[in-house]
Formats: sequence, C-alpha cells, structure tokens
Amino acid sequence: MRPLAYIMFALMALVTITLSTIFLLMPRMNWSAAVKPSTLENRIASTVRKRWIAIHRPDQRNPLTLTPDNLISGREDYDEHCSVCHGIDGSGKNRIEAEFYPRVPRLTGDTQQLSDAEIYFVIANGVALSAMPAFGERHRPEEIWKLVMWVRHLAALTPDERKKIERETSDQARSHEEMMKSHEEMMRRVPGMAN
Ligand code: HEC
Repeated sequence: MRPLAYIMFALMALVTITLSTIFLLMPRMNWSAAVKPSTLENRIASTVRKRWIAIHRPDQRNPLTLTPDNLISGREDYDEHCSVCHGIDGSGKNRIEAEFYPRVPRLTGDTQQLSDAEIYFVIANGVALSAMPAFGERHRPEEIWKLVMWVRHLAALTPDERKKIERETSDQARSHEEMMKSHEEMMRRVPGMAN
C-alpha cells in the first residue's frame, strides 16, 4: 500500500472507533448520579479543579470588614441560595434528599484550606459538569464576599449558634414532613387522584 492509503485507512479506523464509542459503548455505561465517583476520578477532578482555581482566583483579599451586619446578610443569602445543597450548617447534607455526582462537599472541612479569594472564585464561577452553580452573573461582588465570610464562619460556630441552626434544621425537616402529609391527604380527597 502507498503511504496515502495507510493514512486514509488509519483515519477511517479512528472515525469508526470514535463513532462506536459515542453511539454504542457510552450509552451502555452507567450515567446515574446515584453512583459514587471512583477514587481515581475524584483525584483527577480535584487536582484539575484546585489548579484551575489557584490559577484564576482574583488577586485580592476580602475587601469587607467582619461586622455583625455583613455576617447576617451573608447568612441570609447562604440560607436562601446554598443551604439546599450544602446544608444549613455547611455539613454537605443536602435538603432535597438526593444524590449528587460529584458529591456536594462539606464546607467546614477541607474547603477551609482555600483562601478567601479562591472561595470567592468558586462561588462566582461555579464548577462545570457538577451541580455547583455560578452566582457571579446575578450577584454583586459585595454579596459574594459576604457569602465567603459566612462560609468561613460556619467552620467556627459558637455552641449557641450551632444549637440554634440545628433547631432550625429540624424545624424545617418537620414542616417539610407536615407539608407532604397534608399533600397526601389532599390527594386522597380529590376523586381520581389517589394512586
Ligand atoms: C445545586 C447544588 C449546589 C448549590 C445550590 C450550591 N452548591 Fe456549592 N457545590 C456544589 C457541588 C456539587 C460542589 C462540588 C463541585 C465539584 O466537585 O467540583 C460544590 C462546591 C462548592 C465549593 C468548593 C468546595 C471545595 O472544597 O472545593 C464552595 C466553596 C461552594 N460550593 C460554596 C457554595 C455557596 C456559597 C453556595 C451558595 C451561594 C453554593 N455553593 C451553592 C453544589 C451546590
């Protein structure tokens, strides 16, 4: 065979392998979010993510002063936008009773080793191919810096604050259960809706 024929053959083989991988092999793999990512995948993803954050984070410290008002507004924003996934206490236990792939991290653990600028960067940009959304387009920088403050504070809650937050978490769980019960009750009463 002439060299050109070899190249054409190799290219056709490559196209066939790529297309069979996409259309035959990949749809038969397990894409469920209930599966736990493997240790190898976790390591690769976390190395890439850490390097990406370190390279792109803003070269800045938190420009806001730690005041009770700033903390309260950070907490309110956190409870509204973040606690659904990261838990009201930052424990990583989501409030929608579901599995995520990759898992939602505990903000009070290794995350605390990130600098303020790195935490800011993740909140503003999110992480592609994960459930972590980007808040930077629709939140002002001051709001994000206040969130950073609250994320830091979650790892240093006083026993009183922790108790209050735990009480609020169990109150929310209870009101969710009550809502579900009254919903079931309602469905039972509507003719043709009971299953
Ligand atoms: C819909 C779920 C969801 C919401 C809402 C969410 N996160 Fe996340 N967050 C994630 C997931 C999943 C990851 C892990 C991403 C990964 O593995 O790359 C993450 C990662 C992070 C990290 C990086 C942790 C680390 O150790 O690398 C920080 C910081 C963070 N989130 C803070 C927040 C804050 C603050 C908010 C609210 C403004 C928020 N997140 C809202 C799901 C969510």
